[in-house]
Amino acid sequence: MSRTVEHHKTTAVDSPEALGAETPEASIDALGTLLTPSANSWWRGDTIYQIYPRSFADGNGDGTGDLRGVRQRLPYLKELGINAIWYTPWYESPLADGGYDVADYRRIDPAFGDLAEAEALIQDALALGIRTIVDVVPNHVSAAHRWFQQALAAEPGSPERARFWFHPGLGENGDQPPTHWPNNFAGPTWTRLTNEDGTPGEWYLHLFDPEQPDLNWSHPEVVQEHEDILRFWFDRGVAGIRIDSAALLVKDPALPEIPENPGPGEHPNTDRDELHTIYRGWRRVAEEYRDRAPLGGRALIGEIWLPDAERFAAYLRPDEMHTAFNFDFMTRQWKAEELRASIDLMRDAHAPIGAPCTWVLSNHDVTRVVTRYGREDSSFEFLKKRRGIPTDLALGTRRARAAALLTAALPGSLYIWQGDELGLPEVEDLPDEERQDPMYHRSNGVDPGRDGCRVPLPWSGQEPPFGFEPEGSTAPTWLSQPADWNTYTVEAQRKDPGSMLNLYRRMLEFRERDAALGDGPFRWLTASDHAGFGPEVLAFARADGFISVTNFSGEPFALPERAQLLLSSSPLEGGLLPADTTAWLRLTQHPSRTN
Ligand code: GLC
Repeated sequence: MSRTVEHHKTTAVDSPEALGAETPEASIDALGTLLTPSANSWWRGDTIYQIYPRSFADGNGDGTGDLRGVRQRLPYLKELGINAIWYTPWYESPLADGGYDVADYRRIDPAFGDLAEAEALIQDALALGIRTIVDVVPNHVSAAHRWFQQALAAEPGSPERARFWFHPGLGENGDQPPTHWPNNFAGPTWTRLTNEDGTPGEWYLHLFDPEQPDLNWSHPEVVQEHEDILRFWFDRGVAGIRIDSAALLVKDPALPEIPENPGPGEHPNTDRDELHTIYRGWRRVAEEYRDRAPLGGRALIGEIWLPDAERFAAYLRPDEMHTAFNFDFMTRQWKAEELRASIDLMRDAHAPIGAPCTWVLSNHDVTRVVTRYGREDSSFEFLKKRRGIPTDLALGTRRARAAALLTAALPGSLYIWQGDELGLPEVEDLPDEERQDPMYHRSNGVDPGRDGCRVPLPWSGQEPPFGFEPEGSTAPTWLSQPADWNTYTVEAQRKDPGSMLNLYRRMLEFRERDAALGDGPFRWLTASDHAGFGPEVLAFARADGFISVTNFSGEPFALPERAQLLLSSSPLEGGLLPADTTAWLRLTQHPSRTN
């Protein structure tokens, strides 16, 4: 099959050549070389499945997911058609924030298994062609980490305390925190210690929970230790690192308050320019491994929440990270103009630095996509009251199906949060006493927290634990599953040709086989290409005459003639593309197709 896309001036869609990219041939040719997924650039277009080990599958029957459970379910993931797995933290941890409070990076939490099991899992997955991405959390450690324990045992001003942000308080008695910076989980950002003699002591900084003290990144040992952690996991066959809270690590040592409208680089704890030096160091480590078979390139993937797309993209310069999560897209409303604007914004920001976009519908921190898209306001924002909001799940599911195909057709890599392939809804009625997320507790329940998207997956059977645990186990799952999840199980969905799971399977099969998908050329199609492609429709062409069309308008319309329907998120109605539906098409007479 030819992988070049020719440039044509005609614009009527019924002359199929119109759908070749408008970009000049030379630049298309340059892009075309990226269409062949090479070992060194897998991260440009792969499909990555996110596993929250606690909730994926339980291999030992204690009600908590573990690495044995994942190993047993690898064939499921292979069959689903993903290329890589990102694990949220699996290291030793008191689990005060679900593992984002790491006590020891070189050990696996006993709830999940041990290092030998992790090594075996990485190798088992590789044997199936699946790469492993681990999560590194550099902004903070657990309060149980040896460094913090040493700091607590040491005096103010000691070298042990210099690895963190210990500080005397303000005011006459030092009883005012050093700053009034807001906390990412609500509540205070500084905690005051009590000295051994019972007198009040220094304060320490935590942008998240008090169990997650912030590290001082101007300390050379902090820098060195993290580069060693990267090597530790790369040496074990890990192909990528997801970098947690990547824009927060560096703080202004003068600890000023946050200005009302901080200019670029002026925020005292977010997106400071010194961060780029840190990630250049990490990139050098990744490059040391670049040509080692069979894995090839090792990727750095940033969790970067920044409203400024250019500042965001600066982290993806060729000597820094490889990609970063596209949260702009993930948090937008289900509206054509919103998503079009986001796609343009992110593609334009990535283009000058040659980095690929990522496409993400949800993750372990946000409301499940079928629930969010069923709400009148389908945007997402943290610390916003989100309890008791009416949701139309049938509508949300229909839209989530359309969104799955839309995102899987966009150029770049694709992230799938576990359970989204089953269309699981947010569990909004978890009993409050079961909720563990510090976001819920620290906001006094204003924010429902993130437990509702982390409920253990349903695999089979008619009642909880729905095959999450081995046959015969009766331990309650760590968060309870809704009693009516029998219709969502993998087993039930396998048998139903119209299920979300079967849609994901077919979609990923195309994505894997079709060179037009993943990284590569892209061009918007408009009403001048085809009368149906008005402002309420997102239609675009990829290579080889591949077209994706999503209908956001209430009105069904006829798809272009001379196009073969490859897949649609909901059935066509009388040959028309109905509302909230995506169709994948291929022009049957595209000139660049040779088969
Ligand atoms: C990231 C993680 C989130 C965690 C936080 C603190 O945002 O995705 O789950 O709570 O960092 O580590």
